[in-house]
Amino acid sequence: MSTQTAERALRAADEHVANASDAHSRWRPGYHLTPPTGWMNDPNGFVQFRGRYHLFYQFWPYGPQWGPMHWGHAVSDDLVRWEHLPTALAPSEEYDNGDGVVGYGCFSGSALVDDAGRLVLMYTGSVDGRQPPQTQNIAVSDDGVHFRKHAANPVIPVPPADGGADFRDPKMVQIGDRTYAVIGSSADGRGKALLYASDGDLTTWEYIGVAAESRGPEGSMWECPDLFPLADRYALVVSPMQGTVNTFPFVQIGDFDAVSGRFTSAAQQQLDGGIDFYAPQTMVDETGRRILIGWMQQWFQSNVTAEDGWAGAMTIPRELTLEGGAFKQRPVGEVESLRGPVRQLGAHEVGGQPLKVDTGASAEVRVLLGPSSARVARIAVRASGDGSEQTLYTVDRRTGRITCDRSLSGAGDVTSSHVAFDAARESLELRFFIDTCSVELFVDDGAAVMTNRIYPRPDSTGLTITAVGEGTLNVDDLTVWPLSARSAIPV
Ligand code: FRU
Repeated sequence: MSTQTAERALRAADEHVANASDAHSRWRPGYHLTPPTGWMNDPNGFVQFRGRYHLFYQFWPYGPQWGPMHWGHAVSDDLVRWEHLPTALAPSEEYDNGDGVVGYGCFSGSALVDDAGRLVLMYTGSVDGRQPPQTQNIAVSDDGVHFRKHAANPVIPVPPADGGADFRDPKMVQIGDRTYAVIGSSADGRGKALLYASDGDLTTWEYIGVAAESRGPEGSMWECPDLFPLADRYALVVSPMQGTVNTFPFVQIGDFDAVSGRFTSAAQQQLDGGIDFYAPQTMVDETGRRILIGWMQQWFQSNVTAEDGWAGAMTIPRELTLEGGAFKQRPVGEVESLRGPVRQLGAHEVGGQPLKVDTGASAEVRVLLGPSSARVARIAVRASGDGSEQTLYTVDRRTGRITCDRSLSGAGDVTSSHVAFDAARESLELRFFIDTCSVELFVDDGAAVMTNRIYPRPDSTGLTITAVGEGTLNVDDLTVWPLSARSAIPV
């Protein structure tokens, strides 16, 4: 009975997707994953299964705004060219659909390949008004495409006494021979990561305790916690809410004690200095890399592409490393396979007159700033010929700060965001990943990242570099590659 309801809901979603006509609208990215139609938020169930990368995501197929959550599904051989698969989960049960009237769905979660080689998804069923509203559930697949919700659902039917009714986003991780799940929660005004363990078939979970919690400033509710080993330490990634406001995801580096289930933080940093980065999720692939993808949007930003019938995008995948204690995020190497013919513009000495290049709408640009008498550089991307439209980065080598100003970026919100870099560096490498409606900037070989959505006109494709104030700027390298992964768009 409920299997039929679930199948009907999935068929309806896929028919709607097949009939949608917004696949090629003006801001569709050249190489970022977007939903085939409708709304996308958090990445979910990021996993490698039988050699292929699977990425699920929070999905409302019927319109470009949040609605009862389904799980969209995409697959890739190389992390950068994605193909859409049928919708994986749709609300259909008492614990994820309720009476189907308001506030319900298959919320965020994760994936794991079980001992029998099946792909298992763990997700939050959320139903406003139900008691309790949020429970944890699993769905199982033999082929990696079709999923059956388990008869034992909800596999975690109530939150523990340590947590409140906010109880969501289970992230499974294998540590030693145990499978753990960290689950986001809130109690007494503090965000928490609750820890469960399962030794069996993922239908029975034992509550271990609170793995980590906010002291207050780190948020009152922790969404999408993700705990994983990184080099010889552990990392905990959290997307915090402060009251009703979603804020900026951070990573804590520290140690995890498997006996007590406690994670102890030794250092903390914001993951991304831009505005449009939330709910990241990581996975470890068959080569042992720890790879992160984030939702390239924020809840509090205007949803500009909704005019075209779709909303939400994923960042490019980043490889995470810990090198001599330094946390680094670099674009995965596969991104380079998207490069078209290189344009090497070489070294230039720049003054107040801008150095100009046309990048096209979707490009990677490497800028290497060498030792210079000018201490401040301005780099504008997606700039129109007359400069009336541009996204402006100010690189201040006196203060070690890069600011991104979206005042002239086109449609969308005006914001200023910034990241810090080591001002003592003689040379500073900036890698811009520019697309139709976004810019990700990787600073100083992955030491910092800045992700912002922008909505310029299609013909604003210039990049300019200018020295500010006295002196000149040594641009030791300027290299441009057009980037494209057109299979991200259904044909
Ligand atoms: C984070 C989040 C999750 C939740 C999902 C619902 O962006 O609020 O906590 O599971 O989105 O779509």
